[in-house]
Amino acid sequence: MSYRFSSARRLSCALIATTALTLCAGSAFAASVDHYTLTKNGVTLEISAPRADIIRVRAGDPALPEDASWAVSQAVRAQHVPLNVTEAADAVTVSTGEASVKIDPNTLAVSVYDKAGHVVLADAKGAALQFDPDHLGQGFRLRKAMPVDAHYFGLGDKTGPLDRRNEAFTNWNTDNFGFGVATDPLYKSIPFVLGVDEKGQSFGFFMDNTWRSTFDFGKTEPDALDINVQGGGVDYYVMTGATPADIVQDYTYLTGKPPLTPEWALGFQQSHWSYMTQAEAKGIADRLRADKIPSDAIWLDIDYQDKLRPFTVNKETFPDLPKLVSDLKAENMHLVVITDLHIAAAPNAGYAPYDDGMKKDIFVHKADGSTFVGPVWPGDAVFPDFSRVAARDWWGEQYKDFVRMGVSGFWNDMNEPSVFNTPTKTMPLDNIHRIEEPGFATRNATHAEMHNVFGMLNTEATYDGVLKLNPDQRPFVMTRASYAGGQKFAATWTGDNSSSWAHLQLSVSQLVNLGLSGFAYAGDDIGGFAGDQPSPELLTRWIEVGAFNPIFRDHYQKDKPAQEVWVNGPDQEAIRRQYIDERYRLMPYIYSLADENSRTGLPLMRPVFMAYPKVVAGGDHLGGTDGYFMLGADLLVAPPTTWESPAAYKVTLPGSGWYDYWSGEKLASDSTMETPKLDRLPVFVRPGSIIPKQPLTQSTGETPVGPLTLDIYPGDDCHGFIYQDDGISFAYKAGHFLRQSFTCKITKSGLSVDFAAREGDYKPWWTGVTLLIHGQAAAAKASLKGKALNADFDASAHTLRIDLPDQAKAATVTIQP
Ligand code: GLC
Repeated sequence: MSYRFSSARRLSCALIATTALTLCAGSAFAASVDHYTLTKNGVTLEISAPRADIIRVRAGDPALPEDASWAVSQAVRAQHVPLNVTEAADAVTVSTGEASVKIDPNTLAVSVYDKAGHVVLADAKGAALQFDPDHLGQGFRLRKAMPVDAHYFGLGDKTGPLDRRNEAFTNWNTDNFGFGVATDPLYKSIPFVLGVDEKGQSFGFFMDNTWRSTFDFGKTEPDALDINVQGGGVDYYVMTGATPADIVQDYTYLTGKPPLTPEWALGFQQSHWSYMTQAEAKGIADRLRADKIPSDAIWLDIDYQDKLRPFTVNKETFPDLPKLVSDLKAENMHLVVITDLHIAAAPNAGYAPYDDGMKKDIFVHKADGSTFVGPVWPGDAVFPDFSRVAARDWWGEQYKDFVRMGVSGFWNDMNEPSVFNTPTKTMPLDNIHRIEEPGFATRNATHAEMHNVFGMLNTEATYDGVLKLNPDQRPFVMTRASYAGGQKFAATWTGDNSSSWAHLQLSVSQLVNLGLSGFAYAGDDIGGFAGDQPSPELLTRWIEVGAFNPIFRDHYQKDKPAQEVWVNGPDQEAIRRQYIDERYRLMPYIYSLADENSRTGLPLMRPVFMAYPKVVAGGDHLGGTDGYFMLGADLLVAPPTTWESPAAYKVTLPGSGWYDYWSGEKLASDSTMETPKLDRLPVFVRPGSIIPKQPLTQSTGETPVGPLTLDIYPGDDCHGFIYQDDGISFAYKAGHFLRQSFTCKITKSGLSVDFAAREGDYKPWWTGVTLLIHGQAAAAKASLKGKALNADFDASAHTLRIDLPDQAKAATVTIQP
C-alpha cells in the first residue's frame, strides 16, 4: 500500500480513503502506509523503512530513481514496515514507531528522530536538497547538519585521522600507487558514515549511489556535512540504532555480512611482487617452516603468468604449478594466485580468454560500440563487463584449471579498473556497460555510473565462480577495489602503501574504518609495499601490529630488497616469530571472532569507542584512543604514539581493572606508562574476558596437541566463547561446528566459571581444558561437581592454573580459598 500526494492535492480526505487507517480532522490527517511520497516543485521525495529503526529516503527530479541497488539486496529493499503519517501545513511526520521523519513540505528538508524524539540526523539549515547543483544536467547535493559534538567514521580505508570531521573525501576508485598519508581518493568507495556524538548516541548514513561523490565533513562549511553526487538519484538510509555496534550491524543488515572465512586466511601469509620461479616460491615456504615461522599461505603475483596474461602460467618459470600446490599442501601451506581482470588483447595468439571472450562479446564497449582496449600489465587489454550476469559467469569459468589443481585463493587486483597512460588512470567515462541484472531494468550505463562498482562485481564473479567450481570449499578472494557490500565477496587490503612509520600508523585508522564499513577481513602490506627497504625496527613493529590485524600478509614491491621475516638477522627474526607465534596461540579467539562476524557483521578489528562510546567525549583524538585498536571485545592494542621515539608515553584505558596481556598483571589504575621497547607491543585485556587459546602450531591446518586454554581475567560482565569447525568447508552449515560460551562470576567466597552446553556436533581437537585465572593473589581450591581439581598457584605470575577434562555440557568450576 502506498500513499502519494502533491502539494496541490494535500489534505484531501478523499484521496486517503483507500489507505488502511484514515483520519481527517480539520486540516490534518493521519494514515498508515508502506511508503510515503511527496512532490514539491517537480521534485519527488519518498520515505520508507525496511526495518522500524532504519529509514530509507529516495528523491528525484522529477521522478524517483529506479528502485535497484548493487549493495542492498532486493529482499531487504522489499521489506516495508508500516508508516504512520501525520500531515500538517508546515510539517509531515512519518513514523515507524521506532523512528520518525519530519519533512518540511515546502523545502523537502528531512529530519530523522529516534523513538525518544532525539534528532538522529537532520538536514542543515539552508538548501537541504538540490538537483543539478553544478548545472551539468545531473547530480545532486545534500547538506546534513553536523552538531558540534558529533564525530564521523567509516568511508572505508580513506587516509587521514580515524575521525572524519573537518576532512573532505572523494569516492572514486583510484589506483594510487605509493599514496601518501593524505592522498585521496584511494581504491574503494564505501559511502557509509557512522556518526557518534559525545553522549554516545550513534547513527548510520548510507548513500547508495555508485557515481563519483564527495563527502565534506565540515571542512568547507563548518557544521555541515556537504554531499555532492555527480549522477543518479537520491537513495539513502539512516540507521537510528543506539550504539556504534548497533549501527555497524544495521549497515551489514542492509549490505550483507562477510561469509565465514576459511581459517587459513587468518594465518600469516607471505607475498612478494613477485616470486619469480616455482623453486623460489617453494623455497620461501620451506624457509618459513625451517625457521619455525607459523604461516598458512604463499602468494604468486603477476610474474607467474605467461606474458603477464591472466589465467595463463609461464611454463618456463613455473613448469608444474599443480606440483607446487601439492608440495605446499604437504607443508600445510596454501597457494593464492593473482588473477587480474584485464584480459590481454592478444588476437591470434592462442590466448583462450581473449578469443572466447571476444566471440561471446564479454568485454566493455566504447561509446562508439567497439570493444574498449587499454594498456595494463600485459599491454593492451580488454575488460569483462561485470554488470552482465553472463560476463560474470564467463569470468567464473576461467578459474576451472586453478580450482582443479587446488589453488586455495584468488587475488583480484587493478580492478578500479586501473588503466595505464591515461590522465584519469581508468577507462573513458563514456564507455558503455550493459546492465543485465535481476532487479534492474536492462539498459546501457556509462562507465561514470559503473566505475565505483566495477571492482566489486569483479569479486562477485570470482567468488561465485570459484564456489560453483568447488561447492564444498569456502572461497577466498582478495580485492583492492570495491563498493559498499563488497564484503560479501572478498577480503581487502589497503593497496600500495609505503615502508614508513607514518604508513604503519595510518594502517590503524584505515583498517578500523574498513571494519566499521563492513570489511571485517582487511589488512595492509606488512612492512610497506613501496619506498625504501623498511628498517629492521620498522618491519619488526609492523609484524607486531599485523599479528593483531584481521588479515596478516607481508607483501612488497618488485626490485625492493627482501622483506621476509628472516631478513635483518636472528635477533629481529626472534621478536617477529614471537608475535606470529602469539597469533597462532590466539587462533581460537580470532576464529571465534570470524564466526561472530559472519552472524552479526561486527568487525574483528574495532575502534575503542565501539565498546566504550564515552571516549568520543575526549575530543578530536577520542581521548587519545584514536591510535589504539581492539581485536574483538577483549584485547586492546596501544602502539606507541611516536613509533620510532624512545620517549615514555601514557596509555589511557577506557576504565580500570585492565590486565597487561603479556604479563597477566592487573593494572593499578586506568592508565599506565609505557617505555617503548622493540620487543613489546603494549596489549591490554578487558577485565571480564575469557580468551580461548591453543598450543602453538605452525599452521592452521596442523592439529594442536594439548589442552584448550581459557585465559580468564576476572571482572564485571565476565564472558567469552569459542567457535570451531573444520575451517575450510561448509559442513558447519549442517551443524558440524562447535560453539560454547563461558562466563565467570566473582562470588563472595571466590570465583565460579560456568561452561554453557555446547552447540553443534563438531568434535574438538582437545580432550582437556586448562583454566588460567589471572590476577590471583593466593592459592585456592577448585572443584567440579563436588570433585576436587588440581589447582596450581604461581605467585610470581599471579595465576591459578586448573586442569580439567573437556566439558561439552553445562558445568561449573568453583574456586574457593
Ligand atoms: C599493484 C598491487 C600490488 C601488486 C602489483 C603487481 O600495484 O597493488 O600489490 O604487487 O600491482 O601485481
